[in-house]
Amino acid sequence: MTTNLFKQETLVSREDRMKSKQQNALVIWFTGLSGSGKSTLALNLNKVLHDNGYYSYLLDGDNVRLGLNADLDFTDSGRKENIRRIAEVAKLFIDAGEIVLTAFVSPFEEDREQAKNIIGAEHFLEVFVNTPLEECEARDVKGLYKKARKGEIKHFTGIDSPYEQPQNPDIEIKTNEKSITECTVELYQTIRTKIK
Ligand code: ADX
Repeated sequence: MTTNLFKQETLVSREDRMKSKQQNALVIWFTGLSGSGKSTLALNLNKVLHDNGYYSYLLDGDNVRLGLNADLDFTDSGRKENIRRIAEVAKLFIDAGEIVLTAFVSPFEEDREQAKNIIGAEHFLEVFVNTPLEECEARDVKGLYKKARKGEIKHFTGIDSPYEQPQNPDIEIKTNEKSITECTVELYQTIRTKIK
């Protein structure tokens, strides 16, 4: 499918764009169980970045699955393709010199590794939102754990589909030990040196 294609070079480089935006392009890849707080953290960090003059954009699991990836299911292969497409989209944002926040369960180590390879390790930061399953299930903000326990949703992460914890994340956040505001401030402090 990729035969007879030739990569078109650009006259405006990633470096040019980073220079005009006065920031380093970076993907902040949040991974964790459904209900772990990925989206909330990413939303808050995105706002802090914006308020501090950075150019950032949030790619969120539910939103992307309602649009670009509406044709994908939650089987292992559906998730794999979901993550591959997100990584390709994130890579385009990197070329535009942006800071991208992605909030996807991304349960498989292999898929996260592939995302890192697509984007480029120097532009990729993995944030493991480490909230225990019991806590996510107790929160059950969307009522999905309840449905999964009753068998109304198949392949639900943590119930009948696995979550492979990152072995060596760049950042680990335990949302059950601190407030969202504290977690966001900490995250911002940590990433600041990488985006300036
Ligand atoms: S991923 O595994 O492919 O990375 P993604 O982050 O896009 O998942 O979507 C997860 C969101 O979809 C969850 O937050 C939840 O709201 C919803 N969802 C619906 N069905 C499932 C399921 N079987 N497993 C996990 N999340 C699901």
